[in-house]
Amino acid sequence: MSSIRIEEVKGGEEERRRISVHSHIRGLGVVNGKVEKIAGGFVGQVEAREAAAMVVKIIKAGKFSGKGVLIVGPPGTGKTALAIGIARELGADTPFVHLNAAEIYSVEIKKTEFLMRALRKAIGLRIREWRRVYEGVVKSIEFKYGKHPYNPYIQVPVGATVKLKTTDEEKILKVPQEIAAQLIELGISTGDVIMIDEETGRVIVEGQVQGEGEEQYDIYVKHRLEVPKGPVHKEKEITRFFTLHDLDLYQARQQGLVSAMLFGVFTEEKEIPSEVRNAVDNFVKETVDKGNGELIPGVLFVDDAHMLDIETWAFFTKAMEMEMSPIMIFATNRGITKIRGTDIEAPHGIPLDLLDRLIIIRTRPYNEDEVREIVSIRAREEGVKLDNDALDYLTKIGVENSLRYAIQLLTPAQIRAKEQNRSNVTKDDVEYVRKLFLSLRESVEYVKQHEELFLK
Ligand SMILES: Nc1ncnc2c1ncn2[C@@H]1O[C@H](COP(=O)(O)OP(=O)(O)OP(=O)(O)O)[C@@H](O)[C@H]1O
Ligand SMILES: [Mg+2]
Repeated sequence: MSSIRIEEVKGGEEERRRISVHSHIRGLGVVNGKVEKIAGGFVGQVEAREAAAMVVKIIKAGKFSGKGVLIVGPPGTGKTALAIGIARELGADTPFVHLNAAEIYSVEIKKTEFLMRALRKAIGLRIREWRRVYEGVVKSIEFKYGKHPYNPYIQVPVGATVKLKTTDEEKILKVPQEIAAQLIELGISTGDVIMIDEETGRVIVEGQVQGEGEEQYDIYVKHRLEVPKGPVHKEKEITRFFTLHDLDLYQARQQGLVSAMLFGVFTEEKEIPSEVRNAVDNFVKETVDKGNGELIPGVLFVDDAHMLDIETWAFFTKAMEMEMSPIMIFATNRGITKIRGTDIEAPHGIPLDLLDRLIIIRTRPYNEDEVREIVSIRAREEGVKLDNDALDYLTKIGVENSLRYAIQLLTPAQIRAKEQNRSNVTKDDVEYVRKLFLSLRESVEYVKQHEELFLK
């Protein structure tokens, strides 16, 4: 179908997750098409969530590529939480790349290469292909072992015999070493529904059928499936998902430009040449034009965007005009501030020509009830049992200092309660840990008070 051979990457490079403090956010809390005041782990901030839900709709309709969103609001008002809510709503089929702006200063590859990779990880291609495959439930599987070519003491699989069954027939297949090795690696056993690609020999596990007399579990790791219908050997439409960055890596590897995969991990310090990316872009266009696949623009989320410097802003401005570009979401808590790398002041530290293209969502400070609700949701999420007056006190701290500070006190307070042999956190526990850990405001005051004692 094309000049690019597509292979699967094992272990892939999974998006690093930094959402533990937002683990209670399950989505934007849209119920029956409306944003509920408290839902999906979200409390209040209804306007911003409604705007975010609208953005999700536009993205899903495929109408948002090349556009950008800016989320602005004071610290701790849920900007990052909002972006995570968007990611959750978009679901696993839409790529979502989460960067912190400060990251670009610590990468070992060139900054533009890092940014380009981030952009390309945020664009997906879903490919549909008709392939000749063998498909069925594994009825039996037997491996044939032989001597290792260099080490006679080691036995290696040299082939296997697999019996596959559908509702219509049963076929016994003799498969070579490469396929046998995959069967072992994937841990295939009887009852698994598998598919073997005739041309490439790639084995895909589709799921598992429930066998007779088999142990009943409450949780199944594999999809529960019916026995496939029709013949074992057939033509079948297969859908596969890749990001443009995945495709860049395959292409680079085929040209010997990226060192081989070692233990499932790419060594990626090299820059991917633009010829490789051009070849991939052409392949993508061709695939889409022929109707064999669709492009899925995802989201590149850049948190704490005021940390970006002028060069990076220039890169993003240009990127937004590229033919294939993801939706960019930026978040910041800064007002008028210097654009990093210049002496120019601008709203949110963002160059005006880019700012002009962004639609802006605002998050507002919380009232007391909202703070109370968020603190109790977080406490539940972390398994912290709060007495009523402990919750009251944390709410007060959240209002007077910051929501984040109140949330951060939960774990220390729980540790202190345990040390006192209590399972409930009392107001006394909160008061105790509150003295141990300063809030940002207190820390600034403290430094000011004793300015002459600090190193300059
Ligand atoms: N409306 C909300 N509902 C539920 N949880 C919230 C809400 N707003 C914030 N939180 C939680 O409060 C904490 C602080 O919020 P978050 O980190 O999103 O703030 P932020 O606006 O990104 O702040 P900063 O400007 O400092 O980055 C997080 O744990 C977040 O999940
Ligand atoms: Mg944030």
